[in-house]
Amino acid sequence: MKCLVLGGAGFLGSYLCKYLVDKGYNVILFDKNQPDYSSFNDMEDKIEVVINDFVECESFDELTKSVDVVFHLISTTVPRNSNQNMGFDIESNVLPTLKLLNNCKKNDVKKVIFFSSGGTIYGITNNIPISEVHSTDPICSYGIHKLTIEKYLQLYWYLYRLDFVIMRISNPYGGRQFLNASQGAVTTFLERALSNEPIHIWGDGNIIRDYIHVSDVARAASKLIDYKGKYKVFNIGNGEGHSLNQICAQIKTVLEREIKVNYEQAKKEDVPINVLDINRAISELDWKPRVSLQEGIRLLIEDWSELI
Ligand SMILES: NC(=O)c1ccc[n+]([C@@H]2O[C@H](COP(=O)([O-])OP(=O)(O)OC[C@H]3O[C@@H](n4cnc5c(N)ncnc54)[C@H](O)[C@@H]3O)[C@@H](O)[C@H]2O)c1
Repeated sequence: MKCLVLGGAGFLGSYLCKYLVDKGYNVILFDKNQPDYSSFNDMEDKIEVVINDFVECESFDELTKSVDVVFHLISTTVPRNSNQNMGFDIESNVLPTLKLLNNCKKNDVKKVIFFSSGGTIYGITNNIPISEVHSTDPICSYGIHKLTIEKYLQLYWYLYRLDFVIMRISNPYGGRQFLNASQGAVTTFLERALSNEPIHIWGDGNIIRDYIHVSDVARAASKLIDYKGKYKVFNIGNGEGHSLNQICAQIKTVLEREIKVNYEQAKKEDVPINVLDINRAISELDWKPRVSLQEGIRLLIEDWSELI
């Protein structure tokens, strides 16, 4: 079984590549950046790396030949910056994805697994936890591009029987998350606390999110390779909500000391609450999250132990 991981040098992609290699799959990693293998032993020999720009790529024909499963993790934007240039957001994400899907169809790829966003697709709601059948009304362009790609995946399935599964991921965190990437409160807050710098919170700290450890995301993604059931969309989260203030409290508990927090003006792209209903994934995939938030914070400290 050969898997192609688009965006494999990134935070989630690097964990996924490592997870797939450990499971015995052949992996091709595609990214515009060279992967950083530090802390992942023996990966270099086990992965084929293709460095190219997803947006500039003329064709994905060669890349998708003899590939069984494509994991699509490339996004050129994040929720916070996506409203600044909505045209770029659509052009650089949706159009190259259509090119990719055409080549997947041509080369009989068995399945495309798309990393979508459970945090932005649904928009503002009081129906917590949010199930996969909830209405979708994103309040940022990033959420709209994710939803648009989801719709094209459904269209390619309808027209050409190109199989797909969508992972609507909540808020992942873990050791290789890039700090200051405008995503990842758990990692950013912990790094600030460990450096004795104040944590900056936009708003009053009461916005609630569903935080999932990266290892639980990678395990869910690999379960989807062989999934043959009727569902095409899965929420992948922890199923529990924590406010930003609660994250700070948990960090304080783990570090056993006070931390500094500064509150700043709230951002418009932030929905007030987002917690995913993950019952479909639990019952269909024989999967459930294993890492609690507090355990995840301890794991992060372990991952960073050489830096502390
Ligand atoms: N991290 C989150 O909070 C989160 C939540 C839900 C969904 N997702 C989705 O999961 C996927 C992976 O997220 P991540 O946090 O690992 O992001 P990341 O930014 O760490 O990784 C994305 C990778 O894509 C690569 N990439 C970006 N533009 C490219 C281009 N034009 N050509 C080639 N490679 C390019 C980057 O170099 C990077 O290695 C993304 O699609 C993201 O939208 C992330």
